[in-house]
Amino acid sequence: MNRKEEIKEAYRNLGKAHNMYDSIMTGSSFVGRLVDKAVWQMDGEDLLEYQSLPFEVISADFKGKLLEVPVGTGVISMPVFKTLTKADITCLDYSSKMMESARKRAEELQIANIAFVQGDVGRLPFEDETFDAVVSLNGFHAFPDKEAAYKETYRVLKRGGTFSGCFYVEEANLHTDRMIRRFYIRTGFFTPPFETIESLQNRLSRMYESAEVTNVQSIACFRCKK
Ligand SMILES: C[S@@+](CC[C@H](N)C(=O)[O-])C[C@H]1O[C@@H](n2cnc3c(N)ncnc32)[C@H](O)[C@@H]1O
Repeated sequence: MNRKEEIKEAYRNLGKAHNMYDSIMTGSSFVGRLVDKAVWQMDGEDLLEYQSLPFEVISADFKGKLLEVPVGTGVISMPVFKTLTKADITCLDYSSKMMESARKRAEELQIANIAFVQGDVGRLPFEDETFDAVVSLNGFHAFPDKEAAYKETYRVLKRGGTFSGCFYVEEANLHTDRMIRRFYIRTGFFTPPFETIESLQNRLSRMYESAEVTNVQSIACFRCKK
């Protein structure tokens, strides 16, 4: 099995979702699948595809320090972290409530090499060049101060380290853009301004030694090397 297949397999084995948020992220309930289709025009394979892409740069025998920000409920990352038995993992989120679910999930999966830190991505409580890998899933469309978040994730990453992740971008699917404007911005889940695939590629190429951006519908996936 290659790395992509290993990661997809980990998600397939995730089991029952913890709550509505998780069921939308994994398409594991009728309502979750309805939202995934109606808003994102994605099916289960699309979800697996965009959620596994950011982890493909992290090999199964990764031994370094990894930061995930924001961890949320850990629904996407914990199954993968379970496979990274040699890594030293730190998860950070603004919301202790979301992170409590992630902590429980880590306990259920018996992940021992993991720590949880409550904090702000715009002021990360770590020294410069602490981490070998920084992963950020579905965070940048939510962060209110995106400039600070880009600077801080770059600052704490070691030279030669990888920054990978995914988040919503505008103009890739106009139907999704309308739904985001109508429902997600009003409720505070998403905070403009948003990147486009092109603006994200340009930004990351300016900051990093190499940067690759792809997309699944309105979700851009990126992998960069510092
Ligand atoms: C859509 S969730 C994504 C969570 C998870 N990565 C996932 O993909 O399921 C967005 C998360 O960003 C967190 N967040 C928002 N602003 C933040 C900030 N300034 N610093 C850290 N976390 C923040 C929220 O608490 C929430 O858990």
